[in-house]
Amino acid sequence: MIRILSLVLLLVSCTGMKAQEIMPGERWPDDKGVHVNAHGGGMLYADGTYYWFGEFKNDTTSVALDGVTCYSSCDLVHWKNEGIAMPVMPEESYSDIERGCILERPKVVYNKKTNKYIMWFHLELKGKGYAAARVGVAVSDKVTGPYRFVHSYRPCAGFWPENMPEKDRSLKVTPKDFAEWWTPEWSKAVEEGLFVRRDMEGGQMSRDMTIYVDDDGKAYHIYSSEENLTLQIAELTDDYQSHTGRYIRIFPGGHNEAPAIFKKDGTYFMITSGCTGWDPNEARLFSASSIWGPWTQHPNPCRGDDAALTFHSQSTFIFPVAGKKDAFIFMGDRWTPKHPSDARYIWLPIQFENGLPILKWMDKWSLDYFDTKTF
Ligand code: DGJ
Repeated sequence: MIRILSLVLLLVSCTGMKAQEIMPGERWPDDKGVHVNAHGGGMLYADGTYYWFGEFKNDTTSVALDGVTCYSSCDLVHWKNEGIAMPVMPEESYSDIERGCILERPKVVYNKKTNKYIMWFHLELKGKGYAAARVGVAVSDKVTGPYRFVHSYRPCAGFWPENMPEKDRSLKVTPKDFAEWWTPEWSKAVEEGLFVRRDMEGGQMSRDMTIYVDDDGKAYHIYSSEENLTLQIAELTDDYQSHTGRYIRIFPGGHNEAPAIFKKDGTYFMITSGCTGWDPNEARLFSASSIWGPWTQHPNPCRGDDAALTFHSQSTFIFPVAGKKDAFIFMGDRWTPKHPSDARYIWLPIQFENGLPILKWMDKWSLDYFDTKTF
């Protein structure tokens, strides 16, 4: 009965009758009445449906016990639970994605050339805390999965970042030369690629991440690297399953996490957070006219109460609303590490002020907002 009712509701909302509103920070019941469990997520629009992928979180721990979930919706308000799109592997399977690993921030993209869906995620090997700093890849022929794990690794092994000066590539200074972090000498060394050189052979560290597919079909992996000190942007191969080795570093020593990117009128905008674990901090905003930079930093994009804490959230993804011009939605997570599955979603419409994206708190809003906006 409940199932029939929720199906009817879904149909009603998809056929144009007024849908309910998006309520940031509230519980978001799915078609079974259970709070959506898709944290650190990303969105893919395919064949008239939005697919939301995210971390399935347990009630007591943030490690991955189940895998990556998928939900579908045609109005961004009513969500159907499509189940676990990529399950973790059983304990003692010694797989990279063994149950108990840390698997965060999954993002799925569609590859037109291979007609496959590719899932990328931040992976930490079981029992090693956040030391592995790898990226993982899984593939499926069907958007909702099951996704087959392909590989995990540290990106760009053996390649220098394109924008790292020749003179810095041969410096001899190593992290062991610094008894203390955060001194002016150490910061200078970080800027000059201290950790890039250290990780040249084994690949660059890759933690918080997103994937961006550009208008020309090229895809990029944007990730917190170099001990979370520096963001790197790396090009993916045509099948979106590995790296080409072409990459740049941006804001060395800037300590950015949680990258979320979108493009409007030829300008790339990126919102990130600082690094304070599960606690919220002030969002950062960057722009560039080429993905390869130069990137410029702007002031905090948030306005009003709690702007200094990104309304108690951390960015995870930004996506365009299908069929509406200049309509982009900011997806953030309000983490609750003591009860991870209860973490809330802070979704807000992106507004623009003097050509730059800004975010303002709204208790509730609907997609109609984009039809009435004045920017
Ligand atoms: C902040 C990151 O953005 C999250 O994805 C997660 O890795 C936490 N740190 C862990 O403390």
